[in-house]
Amino acid sequence: MKAAVITQPGEPEVLQIRELEMPRPNATEVLIKVHAAGVNRPDVMQRQGKYPPPAGASKDIPGLEVAGEIVETGSGVSNWKPGDQVCALLTGGGYAEYAIAQTGHCLAIPAGFSYVQAASLPETIFTVWHNVFQRGQLKPGENFLVHGGSSGIGITAIQLARAMGAGKVFTTAGTAGKCDACVALGADICINYKENDFESVLKEQRVDVILDMVGGDYIPKNIRLLNIDGRLVFINIMKGSRVKSGDDYVDYGLIMRKRLTVTGSTLRNRDIKFKTLLALEIRDQVWPILEKGLFKPVIFKEFPLEEAAAAHRLMESSEHTGKIMLVNK
Ligand SMILES: NC(=O)c1ccc[n+]([C@@H]2O[C@H](COP(=O)([O-])OP(=O)(O)OC[C@H]3O[C@@H](n4cnc5c(N)ncnc54)[C@H](OP(=O)(O)O)[C@@H]3O)[C@@H](O)[C@H]2O)c1
Repeated sequence: MKAAVITQPGEPEVLQIRELEMPRPNATEVLIKVHAAGVNRPDVMQRQGKYPPPAGASKDIPGLEVAGEIVETGSGVSNWKPGDQVCALLTGGGYAEYAIAQTGHCLAIPAGFSYVQAASLPETIFTVWHNVFQRGQLKPGENFLVHGGSSGIGITAIQLARAMGAGKVFTTAGTAGKCDACVALGADICINYKENDFESVLKEQRVDVILDMVGGDYIPKNIRLLNIDGRLVFINIMKGSRVKSGDDYVDYGLIMRKRLTVTGSTLRNRDIKFKTLLALEIRDQVWPILEKGLFKPVIFKEFPLEEAAAAHRLMESSEHTGKIMLVNK
């Protein structure tokens, strides 16, 4: 089979097509003929050598989500059969013609969704559901801020927060056009972070939960903005895990006095059981939202698998709004 392989850590060009042995499923796995795969920021970090795959994951084929058709099932799999159309969360290996998934990490393609649309869902929905609704405990009527609103994660968080009955939804993005797109998806206020300081814009608003992928100088600002009993959830720290921003600092007294919860997580290294339980909750809670049309997949651009390097270049340019996808023709 063909796969886009990280031949060595480096620039997008290190992603090259190779002819590889077909993987075979073990007892609890399925083999999927991949029609489409999502590109995610963690794939870029893996290619750069900054995000080593967890034990057991493909070391050189990136790709955390796919959609396609099951062609083979392991001996212990009873919930899927060859021919079933699924999307799946993977620990890697999605940039290929065939990929292996745990049986419990597959979900039926939502009614009315294409393979490309379905492949755009697992990584961001699993991440957002766990971090915003399980860890962050966002409740109906509460106000929510997600940084990076035009990212794959951002477009998912805005729409799920809306669909789950959040009060106001706030977000940040780097251009006016991206802000317009975030508002069209349901954000009440989008702050162009290159022109305005989000803390100043939102200081009169109640903010109950923040999903942050930026870190760095955003950390003290997030903590000052949060309401009593607020929750701050990190899924990345792109501007660094340390607060070093002029004279600004984190006041831990605020965490105590406002009874804040500061938490975070990474999805990829969680065990099989955790992701299986998460998939079941998502099937019950999120799939009906998708099938009622309350969530629009936002596909920015599709590339053939052979152009995986170009897909990574686009992601690194940050010109996109929504998801970048790879397709097998
Ligand atoms: N912890 C987990 O389990 C997990 C899982 C998946 C993804 N993630 C993380 O979630 C993030 C989004 O992933 P993705 O695949 O959706 O990537 P993506 O589409 O490339 O998103 C990156 C986003 O970061 C935004 N950004 C950069 N600097 C910013 C700043 N100073 N203020 C506000 N926004 C800023 C960019 O906005 P502009 O383009 O407007 O500048 C862009 O929207 C990544 O950091 C990724 O590593 C974490």
